[in-house]
Amino acid sequence: MNILLIGSGGREHAIAWKLRQSPLLDKLYIAPGNAGTSQVGINVPIKGNDFAALGAFALENGISMVVVGPEEPLVKGIRDYFLNDPALKSIPVIGPSREGARLEGSKDYAKAFMMRHNIPTARYQSFTKDTLEAACAFLKTLQAPYVLKADGLAAGKGVLIVPTLEEAQAELAEMFSGKFGAAGNTVVIEEFLDGIELSVFALTDGTNYLILPEAKDYKRVGEGNTGLNTGGMGAVSPVPFADKAFMQKVEDRIVRPTIQGLKSEGIDYIGFVFFGLINVQGEPMVIEYNVRMGDPETEAVMPRLQNDLVELLQATARGILNQHTIRTDPRFATTIMLVSGGYPGDYEKGKVITGCEQVKDALVFHAGSALSGDSGPVVTAGGRVIAITAYGDSMNDALRCANQNAPLICFEGRYYRTDIGFDLK
Ligand code: AMP
Ligand code: GLY
Repeated sequence: MNILLIGSGGREHAIAWKLRQSPLLDKLYIAPGNAGTSQVGINVPIKGNDFAALGAFALENGISMVVVGPEEPLVKGIRDYFLNDPALKSIPVIGPSREGARLEGSKDYAKAFMMRHNIPTARYQSFTKDTLEAACAFLKTLQAPYVLKADGLAAGKGVLIVPTLEEAQAELAEMFSGKFGAAGNTVVIEEFLDGIELSVFALTDGTNYLILPEAKDYKRVGEGNTGLNTGGMGAVSPVPFADKAFMQKVEDRIVRPTIQGLKSEGIDYIGFVFFGLINVQGEPMVIEYNVRMGDPETEAVMPRLQNDLVELLQATARGILNQHTIRTDPRFATTIMLVSGGYPGDYEKGKVITGCEQVKDALVFHAGSALSGDSGPVVTAGGRVIAITAYGDSMNDALRCANQNAPLICFEGRYYRTDIGFDLK
């Protein structure tokens, strides 16, 4: 079968790499892809939110399945677009409907969903600028630090954790005066949860689900989890504290109620569910939902998945995931992200990337990279540039191998964290 994969990050290179291993796959197209995806498939210069062009491409190229990497096309309704078009509706889109994608697209919606289904999460209330006074009163019932979340998508920047009540009130006023645009018209205020985070992923066909290997990502730019938030500087899978007993709680209290909740509310949801969790003294709580795989978690999760991914996604589309079980490589996989100097602030693009061929015993997944011209050289095209994933029988072995390889890939301004996994040792 021919598959069209949407996206252009490290997540998509890792998914493309995994799909490519399937004997069921004929042609793999990636829209728009990056320099790495062009090694395992054919890049197509169409943006993920240009549904008309993607639909036309799918028909012209005999596409039998569309796999959506990032959230934006889902939140904008790519699944609905295909289902509502008579010529496209027989091509399954792996990803939730627009309604299902609200789990990520609206924090207020996600919190209300968790309340309805008794899913453990931080105590919260939602406010608009008309209820500013009530918001300030609610803040006073909480203890520092204060967590403020713009309701809508804000490019990963819409969550503020502030140390004092005065600052929380000031930030709230700024959010209501448009700091995050329309995304901040509604603000979720919630209780701060103290614990260590992890990412759990499920694949669902709307009724059945399979839990994929879990991972932990490292969001802060600086060593020791300091500095600004990024898209993610590295990942580790498995997560040592997520033992059998903990994961059983995750499944019983969070994953199953979520999938059943979606079904019982008649929400059309197939594809990946990303549970952003926090371990509060042994009890898992939900920080957020995403309606896609994580990045860079995917670069550590896909290498550990032993199933045929095309087969799993076919079963997802057909509603027969109950006929499959997940098989996981017992080794650790650890990922280090090489980023552009200055990221997550301003950074330059177009720097020549060298040394990918020097990497030994590790996988290279491209994120923000592009071919300059038809045949190269490969240059930087984003903040997060290259993910290096290494296996090991222990977390330390895997980290050692990833750290040995990281300096071999060079580009001007390259930066990476050398302490991924430090808090799990
Ligand atoms: P989100 O965009 O919802 O993932 O939030 C971004 C980050 O803020 C999370 O990864 C957490 O590190 C942190 N965070 C969000 N909500 C809370 C909370 N209630 N308590 C503690 N930390 C939080
Ligand atoms: N690594 C976190 C995310 O993909 O949102």
